[in-house]
Amino acid sequence: MNKQTLTITDNRTGKNYEVPIENETVNAKDLRNIKVNDADFGLMTYDPAFMNTSICKSTITYIDGDNGILEHCGYPIEQLAEQSTFLEVAYLILHRELPNRKQLKKWTDDITLHTFVHENVKKLMEGFRYDAHPMGMFVSTLAALSTFYPEAKLIFDDELRRKQILRLIGKVPTVAAFAYRHTKGMPYVYPDNDLSFVGNYLSMMFKIAELRYKPHPVLEKALDVLFILHIDHEQNCSTTAMRVVGSSHSDPYSATAAAAAALYGPLHGGANEAVLSMLDEIGSVQNVPNFIKKVKEDKGKLMGFGHRVYKNYDPRARIIKKLADQVFDITGRNPKLDIALELERVALQDEYFIKRKLYPNVDFYSGLIYKAMGFPTDFFPVLFAIPRTAGWIAHWQEMILDSEQKITRPRQIYLGSKRREYITISRRG
Ligand code: CMC
Repeated sequence: MNKQTLTITDNRTGKNYEVPIENETVNAKDLRNIKVNDADFGLMTYDPAFMNTSICKSTITYIDGDNGILEHCGYPIEQLAEQSTFLEVAYLILHRELPNRKQLKKWTDDITLHTFVHENVKKLMEGFRYDAHPMGMFVSTLAALSTFYPEAKLIFDDELRRKQILRLIGKVPTVAAFAYRHTKGMPYVYPDNDLSFVGNYLSMMFKIAELRYKPHPVLEKALDVLFILHIDHEQNCSTTAMRVVGSSHSDPYSATAAAAAALYGPLHGGANEAVLSMLDEIGSVQNVPNFIKKVKEDKGKLMGFGHRVYKNYDPRARIIKKLADQVFDITGRNPKLDIALELERVALQDEYFIKRKLYPNVDFYSGLIYKAMGFPTDFFPVLFAIPRTAGWIAHWQEMILDSEQKITRPRQIYLGSKRREYITISRRG
């Protein structure tokens, strides 16, 4: 086997350096030995937006972006979506193995036990304005949860850490549903722990006067599949935010709130909301060519297209596209689907999108399903955040227990003014 090293010649000094290659990666710290003299700090890498930097070793999620492959702990997303449940996959990414029957029962019971929130959380949420964005309410309420569980800051206590994990997975649907009911001015619905994880969530969202809410089995299953598809996606913006904030050893509620805030943006989890606004703006299939023309003239983006890692069809989008038909059979076809299909057809044949390897991502079709199920458009990012909480917390725990990790503290290249003398205000002209 060839030597797994990289030889670097520094042309400033003529010196050679040999740097180990491990996991097809060089360790950026090894470059610090490359100096012009002893006083030199050493060479650094410059990588805005982490375009080519691995920030951790992980055993949770594998993505092969060139071939459109996504796996959790070795299991292909297609098989998980078809055969598993959200709670099972949540267990998988936190324990790295699928649960047996007994483990799954305990896991489900433990999470179900934590679906209720303190009454003061309800009061806190009542303080938001009637038209507050649900994601703003979600982010703030998650942060507020840390004040209800001050022991959560003891992050190296295994039992306490496990408890916060159960609480977070159990409570996010409740907080999300309360945010929705608040905007509707409807009374909050308490968890019904006899329903499934997703069934209970639908009950807290949509129950009106019936004694017991009965979720439609096809819609309940469809939302469960959507939750599986959104559970984790390795080092995306929000998961990295979770790791960065958690690296200062802040409590998991504060770190999760930070991750949710990162998810909120339209380039990330807010894209599903932006797709629906875009489809509204386009209005009809006839307007698709004109819209694509504007995108190519750099007058806007085709939302729900493109990905930092996938340079091929996002496997989640493929599953969602199929799921849409099952949901529309129950709810009726969303007419905007025709616009989306035409956008995809035109874009996938267009040189601009082909050259840049832009394909539909997870957000392109998910919003249409959410809309058909009765969720308002501004609620879509919250639907992304509920399952992703399990992914965030799995990465947070992995980071906490990783002896190679430290507080995240990158470097910068300072290009501002050189040192100069202070000028009093009267002399500033
Ligand atoms: N529409 C039109 N052009 C695009 C798009 C798009 N959606 N995405 C990328 N491009 C162009 C971009 O302008 C650039 O062109 P050029 O080389 O001429 O400057 C080229 O493609 C490369 O794009 P990039 O912006 O350098 O790629 P990135 O890795 O920095 O950004 C992205 C990835 C997802 C932020 C971006 O593709 C985008 O903004 N997409 C729309 C928003 C979206 O759907 N986000 C959801 C992502 S998937 C769910 C999640 O995990 O959040």
